[in-house]
Amino acid sequence: MAAIRLTQVNKIYRSRGHAVHAVKDLDLTVEDGEFVAILGPSGCGKTSTLRMIVGLEDITGGDIFFDGQRVNDLDPQARNVAMAFETYALYPNFTIEENLSFPLEVRGVPAAERRKKVHDLAALLRIEDILGQKPAALSGGQQQRVSLGRALIRDPAVFILDEVMSHIDAHLKFQMLFELKRIHRELGKTMIYVTHDQVEALALADRVAVMSNATLQQVGTRNQLYHEPVNVFVADFIGEPPTNFFPAELDPAGDQPVLRAKNAALTFSVAAERGQRLAASGQRDFVVGLRPQNLRLDGTEVGEPPPGGTLTAEVAINEYVGERTVLTLVADGHRFRAQAHAETTLGRGEQVRLRYASSDVMVFDAKTEALVA
Ligand SMILES: Nc1ncnc2c1ncn2[C@@H]1O[C@H](COP(=O)(O)OP(=O)(O)O)[C@@H](O)[C@H]1O
Ligand SMILES: [Mg+2]
Repeated sequence: MAAIRLTQVNKIYRSRGHAVHAVKDLDLTVEDGEFVAILGPSGCGKTSTLRMIVGLEDITGGDIFFDGQRVNDLDPQARNVAMAFETYALYPNFTIEENLSFPLEVRGVPAAERRKKVHDLAALLRIEDILGQKPAALSGGQQQRVSLGRALIRDPAVFILDEVMSHIDAHLKFQMLFELKRIHRELGKTMIYVTHDQVEALALADRVAVMSNATLQQVGTRNQLYHEPVNVFVADFIGEPPTNFFPAELDPAGDQPVLRAKNAALTFSVAAERGQRLAASGQRDFVVGLRPQNLRLDGTEVGEPPPGGTLTAEVAINEYVGERTVLTLVADGHRFRAQAHAETTLGRGEQVRLRYASSDVMVFDAKTEALVA
């Protein structure tokens, strides 16, 4: 087992006078036994980070510690980290049992012990019934499990998975996500799961590290990322449909300051104390963020609505998405989305009134894009 700590880790690739800064000043701690996901768009530096943890890539700057021991200069074997890739090359002429047993054989593990380890792991992965088969005979899901098995058989201290579900269809994906969570619970190993898919990251991990542009944006639980995103990027990247953003100006007049959307009559009210704090900051330009889930069609509220405000808008598009309806709305030239009940029959051109709670109004600095408390 191992806790992992990265301090000020940097990766710069250099080739023919050209430099790519793939990871910038990354600080990240993964506790012993914790399941952490690294989430971010393609090219943001996720795989580079993993490869430095595993020892497959030089660290340009900073340090990586396993249980307090600096591992920068240790080779991958000495770090005892296993990385599972989406597709493991399995030996086609070997049975699954032989494929799983092979890494142990190379290490000189005696036959009886190999057999026991393979069978214990097969029970964990629920692949006991296919141990005698050849790889070509397996379904996609079975191959996936065997690939995980290939990584786990060495009993690594840290288990790393890089985009392992990218090419799995949705139904199987949900099953594998569930299985991975179970495997983590049963093994209690430190796991790092890399993905560009927020659904996977949020479903699996204790905490999610969101990266963009080589830089860590925020590390947090699902609730923290959803309710307290540190900046516009995280608020936009986490949540589906994405957060609505409105460039807005603070109108400090009166005892209840409001945020007025640029070039529009749309206003957003925040709690008086927060409004006064915004006014006291001396800043006028902000970006308001409001999640589609937090814009409720007026009249659908059960009980007393929380203190907040209303928006009036016209329906542009009514999309039925799975078990819900997403309305695209227009108000004063601003387009935004609201989530409604699946049965909503509102159509193009209809006027709606939407209610929001002022506590759900996120306010960001227009220049830095950082959340303003
Ligand atoms: N071996 C390499 N040489 C040069 N540039 C690289 C190399 N590997 C990755 N990069 C670049 O580093 C950046 C981060 O890549 P990567 O870590 O693979 O991102 P991710 O896994 O998030 O998609 C990208 O701009 C990519 O093109
Ligand atoms: Mg990658």
